[in-house]
Amino acid sequence: MQTISHPTQDEIKIAANALKNGHLVSFPTETVYGLGADASNEKAVSRIYLAKGRPKNHPVIVHISSINKMEYWAKDIPKYAKILGSAYWPGPMTLILKRNALALDFITGDQESVGLRVPNQQVALLLTREFEKIGGFGIAAPSANRFGSISPTTAQAVEEELGKYLGSQDLILDDGQCEIGVESSIIDCTQMNPVVLRPGAITKEMVENVTGLTVSLRENESEIRAPGLLASHYAPKAKVILGLAAKPGDGFLAMDQIPTPIGSIRLASPVSIEDYARDLYKALRMADQFGLNNIYVVEPEGPGLAIAIRDRLDKASAGN
Ligand code: TXA
Ligand code: MG
Repeated sequence: MQTISHPTQDEIKIAANALKNGHLVSFPTETVYGLGADASNEKAVSRIYLAKGRPKNHPVIVHISSINKMEYWAKDIPKYAKILGSAYWPGPMTLILKRNALALDFITGDQESVGLRVPNQQVALLLTREFEKIGGFGIAAPSANRFGSISPTTAQAVEEELGKYLGSQDLILDDGQCEIGVESSIIDCTQMNPVVLRPGAITKEMVENVTGLTVSLRENESEIRAPGLLASHYAPKAKVILGLAAKPGDGFLAMDQIPTPIGSIRLASPVSIEDYARDLYKALRMADQFGLNNIYVVEPEGPGLAIAIRDRLDKASAGN
């Protein structure tokens, strides 16, 4: 495995060729780093599952270069899904659509739907374009972490998570810290009205505003298989506990204006919700590096991205 820092256009072409030859390429997006493979190559995609330690029946998102490539992967696309794509792509939004012939079972986890996203990050966009230029149709990429663990927001975190599971020809493209820091919003577009399956930076209100439709948040007991829906997902090794009761030696994460409990170890002091999202996984990772047993977290209040942060923290703390 080789890491390429701030890849040039030529290096991105090399990475696109590596994908075409069946190798894995981890790349940055505006949300988190992905672990990419040629979405039309079953063997390459199966290596993603091995590297992540992920169960076979979980679907992966296909990354494409523009809304014009949707039809390769999806059919019977509702008008509102096209409106969403036009409004928010490239961006932190994944649309779940009825699958087309290219979306085989090894991509969809045997489901009749496929997840598509156009990422808004320069290296990611160039990679999808270069890959399509040499005959590729899309890049399958889940977050580049071991199954159940925290998504990586830096290339270094990808190396720590997956370094020993990648082969000598696989690549990591390093383009610094991810801008948003939590995974894309997932919008189910297989029903009459959009349903938010995973909250993210594209909020329910933003979906309602452009579509004019009533949008619901997924029920807890969704039948759609999405790993993020499992309890104890997005979790560090340290125990995540919601609240202020940190004791000396515990980790602590809260908005800047909330004081650090005496003796606890401040992991981040975000001054805005955007900062909180960007710092979240880095802070949880840091706690593991320090070998902490407990992390006390005060969740951010309010709508928008704060809902996504609370969603991830509720899952990280499930059962604690
Ligand atoms: O921000 C993101 O979405 C990142 C970057 C790399 O794009 N990717 C990401 O992928 O978070 P992953 O695999 O870690 O999470 C994608 C979620 C999973 O929960 C998966 O089950 C769900 O999307 N998903 C993918 N295809 C689906 C489908 N056809 N139906 C329902 N859920 C689907
Ligand atoms: Mg993930």
